Amino acid sequence: MNNPQLRPYKAWDLPVRIFHWVNFTAVIGLIIFGLLMLFKKELGITSIEAKISLKTIHVIIGYVFVLNLAVRIFWGFIGNRHARWRSILPGRGFVQALRDYRASVSAGKPQQFIGHNPPGRLAVCALLLLMVVMASTGLIRAGTDIYYPPFGSLVAGYVAAPGTDPASLVPYDPTGMEPSRAEALKAFKDPFGIIHLYTAYMLMFLIVIHIFAVVFVEVREGGSLISAMFSGNKVLSGKPVNGES
Ligand code: HEM
Repeated sequence: MNNPQLRPYKAWDLPVRIFHWVNFTAVIGLIIFGLLMLFKKELGITSIEAKISLKTIHVIIGYVFVLNLAVRIFWGFIGNRHARWRSILPGRGFVQALRDYRASVSAGKPQQFIGHNPPGRLAVCALLLLMVVMASTGLIRAGTDIYYPPFGSLVAGYVAAPGTDPASLVPYDPTGMEPSRAEALKAFKDPFGIIHLYTAYMLMFLIVIHIFAVVFVEVREGGSLISAMFSGNKVLSGKPVNGES
């Protein structure tokens, strides 16, 4: 490093970096297959088999997404200082930290942080919250639409007509279903589909903002935010506000 003022700080531990890139890849896959399902008619996808295949691929990627998210939530309790919920969730002193950061930006000398800066903490909370909603509504729809785990066998058991083996039910085929229960199931699952879709729109919007914000902050303040998600190290030119790690 030529500039003697620049110094690397350990920011993101390995599990956080693995989470980030697995999440990135899974979310892109989920968006692609989600949009294919959403625009199936426009794309000329009409056969039941194709619809079920798209849903099945989306759900399988969804399991990777859910498992990865669950590990990250757990890691927030035991990971390094910057991975922990204590450093992310806005708690006592957060409003003051946000004001101080804004004042430092207005003064042209933005405060430097090893982990997230205060607006970054808000963005991460919003992203994680939306992803938890996507995960839970997605798992419910996986059970109610194609009888996939973790709720699929429960749903099939509920909707199967007396004397029908629940395992013999086929998605999109009413054969073997008790009609009144099939109707009740539809009324139950529809709101989850609506929440899933509108949360997906919000998530896509926030992802675009997140990418712009990271690039903007890196250009304005340095700190090598983007490469830090690969190397784990942030390179700062001043003393970080949130101490050494
Ligand atoms: C970032 C995460 C996710 C995104 C962006 C996403 C996006 C989408 C989109 C755009 C649709 C189409 C909605 C429609 O056709 O009305 C969809 C449907 C669906 N998703 Fe996801 N999804 C995500 C996570 C998940 C997960 C984790 C699962 C389950 C493991 C899942 C299961 C489903 C199912 C079963 C459907 C079909 C529902 C229907 O036909 O209305 N999704 N998703």
